[in-house]
Amino acid sequence: MSETLERKRVLSCIQPSGMLTLGNYLGALKNWVKMQDEFETTFAVADLHAITVRQEPAKLRSQIYSTYALMLALGLDPEKSTMFIQSHVPEHACLAWVLSCNTQFGEMARMTQFKDKSAKHADNINVGLFSYPVLMAADILLYKPDFVPVGADQKQHLEIARDIAIRFNRLYGDVFTVPDAYIPKTGARVMSLQDPEKKMSKSDDNLNSFVAILDDKDTVIRKFKRAITDSEGGIYVSEDKKGVSNLITIYSAVTGKTVPEVEKEFEGKGYGDFKLAVGEAVADELAPIRERYNKIISDKGELERLFRDGAERAERVARKTCFKAMKKVGFVV
Ligand code: TYM
Repeated sequence: MSETLERKRVLSCIQPSGMLTLGNYLGALKNWVKMQDEFETTFAVADLHAITVRQEPAKLRSQIYSTYALMLALGLDPEKSTMFIQSHVPEHACLAWVLSCNTQFGEMARMTQFKDKSAKHADNINVGLFSYPVLMAADILLYKPDFVPVGADQKQHLEIARDIAIRFNRLYGDVFTVPDAYIPKTGARVMSLQDPEKKMSKSDDNLNSFVAILDDKDTVIRKFKRAITDSEGGIYVSEDKKGVSNLITIYSAVTGKTVPEVEKEFEGKGYGDFKLAVGEAVADELAPIRERYNKIISDKGELERLFRDGAERAERVARKTCFKAMKKVGFVV
């Protein structure tokens, strides 16, 4: 058997719904890059998901390009990973329909992200927003991955994808692999710098609440200087020091130092020094990514060649699984 066949499979996706953040990077993308040497990896820009909230078309189009370019700049390699844009592979929408008819209303209604997003976008609680996790299950199940590297906020969606796969297999026979979430130990839930009760999010209206991967050094440092801490002093992880704990986690995820090592490093130091150190560590990690990104985004032709090629490769896999599922439910394929 060839080495490729023996390798376990990994799939994940990211929405092109704004500037990718340090949360996306530490919670997911950093792991994607690491995993591509060991696993057979597939990564997509989840543009179909992005329109569950209203998007300005021109802006969305440009964000799809920039998200793909950023994936390359981070070190994802089209020679090692299949990298594509979700809407270029129609099987995602097709399988999502088949799976929708095998998913219960009640299962979707209890999704916390649906509840949060429908509160935030009360004027546009569309059906797509509601059935979003089914599309996500289709994204995953089409490629039969063993692992799905995501941040902690996607855990519930992963569980529903597993439930859908198990139920479908039970009803129709073995079609899907039941995947496991792969959630990092550090950085799985990076919190907002302005409100450490909330996760850091690229769609946050407060630009100081998140660090974008493409922020320049001064901006990164300024945002960390402004990060909310507390009035108590003391640099250690604790339930009632959410702001400081978040900064420690970020520093630990970026430098690879353990939490006790970080606490020791800053023992007796003030918040000013600490925030500056976190800001500098993050800025240093992000600077080479930004440089690579600027080169990559300037060659649209090459980007297009890469994502068209990625879509062809992805579709070869997706088509097989989709046909199999369609055949099982009784369609003439
Ligand atoms: P998205 O686009 O919101 O986020 C992409 C990835 O980044 C992680 N993430 C975070 N991790 C740590 N701290 C944070 N503050 C933080 N914010 C985001 C997310 O967990 C995610 O791994 N529904 C998905 C996209 C998707 C998908 C899929 C993922 C569509 N289809 C199939 C996996 C498999 C989403 O909205 O992620």
